[in-house]
Amino acid sequence: MSFDPSPLGKFPAVRMRRTRQHAWSRRLVAETRLSASDLIWPAFVMEGNATTEPIASLPGVERLSVDRLLAKVGEAIELGIPAIAIFPVTPADKKTPLAEESANPDNLINRATRAVKAEFGDAFGVICDVALDPYTSHGHDGLLVDGVIVNDDTLNVLCQQAIVQAEAGCDIIAPSDMMDGRIGRIRAALDAAGFEQVQLLAYAAKYASAFYGPFRDAVGSAKNLGQGDKRTYQMDPANSDEALREVALDLAEGADMVMVKPGLPYLDIVRRVKETFGAPTLAYQVSGEYAMLCAAAEHGWLSREAAMLESLLAFKRAGADGVLSYFALEAARLLPKD
Ligand code: PBG
Repeated sequence: MSFDPSPLGKFPAVRMRRTRQHAWSRRLVAETRLSASDLIWPAFVMEGNATTEPIASLPGVERLSVDRLLAKVGEAIELGIPAIAIFPVTPADKKTPLAEESANPDNLINRATRAVKAEFGDAFGVICDVALDPYTSHGHDGLLVDGVIVNDDTLNVLCQQAIVQAEAGCDIIAPSDMMDGRIGRIRAALDAAGFEQVQLLAYAAKYASAFYGPFRDAVGSAKNLGQGDKRTYQMDPANSDEALREVALDLAEGADMVMVKPGLPYLDIVRRVKETFGAPTLAYQVSGEYAMLCAAAEHGWLSREAAMLESLLAFKRAGADGVLSYFALEAARLLPKD
């Protein structure tokens, strides 16, 4: 059989497969690279000593007492991971309607931050969420008055929370609460307290997502929230232009970095945010995304390692500068440092 529609040469002249033939030339033309430097490790810290607890809906992830956390931070630094995002598992008896524990200088997250900073200093970045859900008896990120999450009163509490976290040595304050105006208020509060070098990572486009379920199990807020949802403050998954307005506001109010969350189902948002603003843009591969991949791998339906690395690379290709992922340590073991 012969087929030669081209008088100029063999058909087709352009063969996209040529550069794909060899591993070396695939490497040469790769547009995106993933390394340990791209990864942020989200970790759950609990009370106690020499204690770890598995989390059923996050296989392979454990709640760690502070001493256990320190050991693992040492490993993360060795692997080239630049930073950790610490989430506290607040004991149920410390959760109150007004989230007073959030402003306690000696609460769990602040003790964990102090311990990490005391042991590792500037070798490792510490990121702390600012939001009230680990501390409220109703499980919401803000104060609940007559069934409504009140914005402006919540801001006062968030500012106190940010200050005690900065005092503990937190490098990056990451408001994840989605109250209006919080970046500006927290920036001003930090500056007034002498923390003008503390960075702000805004969870700018954070959606009211079904993919946070395992996280709420991990920090024990699922029971508190019950049938409640966060749709009056987190974004509607239907919206994309609105994400750009959220990001624009947070950058104008002083955010150093912005985040899109969840991750893989929202890569279109990552791409638009990066292209529109060119600001440091992170994405969060959230608990439900991690759990899905783990579940499929456990059934033998996916290769865990290949799916993990491909999913992380996809964030970079979409334009993310970094990824928060529960795979961080596991992936870093397979990746170059830079
Ligand atoms: C708290 C917070 C949540 C996550 C990060 N910070 C949960 C929520 O908003 O309900 C979710 C992270 C994950 O699912 O991995 N505001």
